[in-house]
Amino acid sequence: MSFRHRHLLGIEDLAPQDITAILDLADQYVDLNRRQIKHADTLAGLTQINMFFEASTRTQASFEIAGKRLGADVMNMAMQHTSLKKGETLIDTALTLNAMHPDLLVVRHPMSGAVNLLAEKVNCAVLNAGDGRHEHPTQALLDALTIRRAKGRLHRLTVAICGDIAHSRVARSNILLLGKMESRLRLIGPPTLIPAGAAEWGVEVYDDMGQGLADADVVMMLRLQKERMDGGFIPSEREYYHRFGLDAEALGHAKPDAIVMHPGPMNRGVEIDGTIADDINRSVIQDQVEMGVAVRMAAMDLLARNLKARPEGVYA
Ligand code: NCD
Repeated sequence: MSFRHRHLLGIEDLAPQDITAILDLADQYVDLNRRQIKHADTLAGLTQINMFFEASTRTQASFEIAGKRLGADVMNMAMQHTSLKKGETLIDTALTLNAMHPDLLVVRHPMSGAVNLLAEKVNCAVLNAGDGRHEHPTQALLDALTIRRAKGRLHRLTVAICGDIAHSRVARSNILLLGKMESRLRLIGPPTLIPAGAAEWGVEVYDDMGQGLADADVVMMLRLQKERMDGGFIPSEREYYHRFGLDAEALGHAKPDAIVMHPGPMNRGVEIDGTIADDINRSVIQDQVEMGVAVRMAAMDLLARNLKARPEGVYA
């Protein structure tokens, strides 16, 4: 298995065979995670630091569990209460941490590009856990693993991504990944929440759920990212739910065996009907969370193999 990357900063940098390598290894970690004893020593002796400059529940917990199951020494740093917003200060923090010789640095930051900038300044492997509206590569990989296990493949599927595309790093990373793996992509949302130029990305754009969901294999709902909005993107949440919420009627347009996904956290009754989210025959939302741990184990394992291949003393 060859994976020749030093960092995991975005799907943009990955080739289809890199994506397949991560997913294949993640499948093995799913098996490990379902055993009673869930330990491997893949990352034993390595130090993993999680730096979250933005609130996170599932992503941070997932990276922490992934590192611990692989035997790393894991440290969490909650950075969201600090006022580290300026590039210079971020770099100072990075240099300070770097001096503690971490091997894996997991970073979430509200500014697009901040994680790439940090990666240039440190000696260790950096994993992007979400930067602004830019990328969230492990989310797209866990979504891909969930789809591949449910549908048996990633190519020639019709995948509809619905809702607040404009503010979503999840959408961006998924569009890149599913495009590379040759699925057909549709974006559905009000024109105010579809990024300018989306029509040139090789995707179909709809502002009607019935049309956009017709014969879809995968329905991926997104949270309305109110914290990233600075004004009137939607008339009201009620109106939004009426036109773009996923209820039984809207889902009826998709294929009868279409799966429903959501990266979480969900706003029930805003973008998705709670009964659909909880319907174990349609919703794979809990599978996404399970796949997240396995994908992060696989990504850190592959990056650590490259670290170990480097000459001794490289951190000095
Ligand atoms: C997403 C994120 O933070 O980008 N959530 C997540 O990682 N589970 C999506 C979101 O916040 O809506």
